[in-house]
Amino acid sequence: MNIEQLTRPHIRDLKPYSSARDEFAGQADIFLDANENSLGSATEEAYNRYPDPLQRAIKAQLAPLKGVRPEQIFLGNGSDEPIDLLFRAFCEPKRDHVITMPPTYGMYQVSADLNQVKVVHVPLTDDFQINIAEVITALRPGTKLVFVCSPNNPSGNLMALASIELILQKAKGLVVVDEAYIDFAPEASLLPLLDRYPNLVVLQTFSKAWGLAGLRLGMAFAHPAVIGVLNKIKPPYNVNGLTQEKALEALAAVAKKDAMVATLLVERTRLAEGLAALPIVGKVYPSDANFLLVRMDDARHRYQQLMGQGTIVRDRSRLALCEGCLRITVGTPAENDALLAQLDALG
Ligand SMILES: Cc1ncc(COP(=O)(O)O)c(C=O)c1O
Repeated sequence: MNIEQLTRPHIRDLKPYSSARDEFAGQADIFLDANENSLGSATEEAYNRYPDPLQRAIKAQLAPLKGVRPEQIFLGNGSDEPIDLLFRAFCEPKRDHVITMPPTYGMYQVSADLNQVKVVHVPLTDDFQINIAEVITALRPGTKLVFVCSPNNPSGNLMALASIELILQKAKGLVVVDEAYIDFAPEASLLPLLDRYPNLVVLQTFSKAWGLAGLRLGMAFAHPAVIGVLNKIKPPYNVNGLTQEKALEALAAVAKKDAMVATLLVERTRLAEGLAALPIVGKVYPSDANFLLVRMDDARHRYQQLMGQGTIVRDRSRLALCEGCLRITVGTPAENDALLAQLDALG
């Protein structure tokens, strides 16, 4: 795969913005090159200096943790940023198209619409797996991105590896595997496949297992040529200094993340069993993520009733294949107890 050929010509030819910190990233005593406020900040801690545009310290910690090289990592303002940048870099508006597999994460469609790129929908099968024959049939030279969400939001399940690999082998464009929930799954990430498939892009995030949704830090892992294109078109300081600082703090406390994941997995099982025992619950779908898709007797009504008690879940009942379903995030043990008690009282 020739990444240069896949890139939109005007982006291939683009001369990127060169920031002060791009031009000088070394040590010095006096920095008078970026029109910062040398006196300090209007806050207690100092944030008067622009952050590292390429977040090198984070990538140095992340690379060994993920088993990749720093040049295979892009960091963005949430995973939503690399999703949007992939459209802007590789999809010609009104000409190219992407494939998504609904029901799935809504931002692929929104980013496509924003960028005027057509979406070909190949729905998942009834058991929420990739309809591999249909996806292969839908692939065209103009298919620039194929989005695979695994574990999938809102169904919660992992996609079969054999299907993903077949798409990687057949697609002429990039295959974007969104692993936002991979830390909660029993199977490993697809990151080890990066060296075998230059068209693979893996998305992960600090928003779920790491518990840092408020910081907005998303990761894209790919061939260095793809990462180079994303870096070329991103806003210069797309990951702010406070986020970089806090991400480094989190990376030094991996055990804390692992302990939270372990607790959430125990709670997921307990919540699933508790929900399945309720008469108003029809089905709890198996989950490899930190949420459960739950078929209710009357999803809309139950959603409203829970809201009345101060508990907000997600009504997914209007999505194809999710008719009658609520999506429920696994909470703290006390939150899960409260939810089960509220639902029990309704039945
Ligand atoms: C599948 C999937 N990908 C990405 C995201 C967004 O992640 P971030 O907070 O990093 O933008 C979500 C958020 O719910 C998600 O469900």
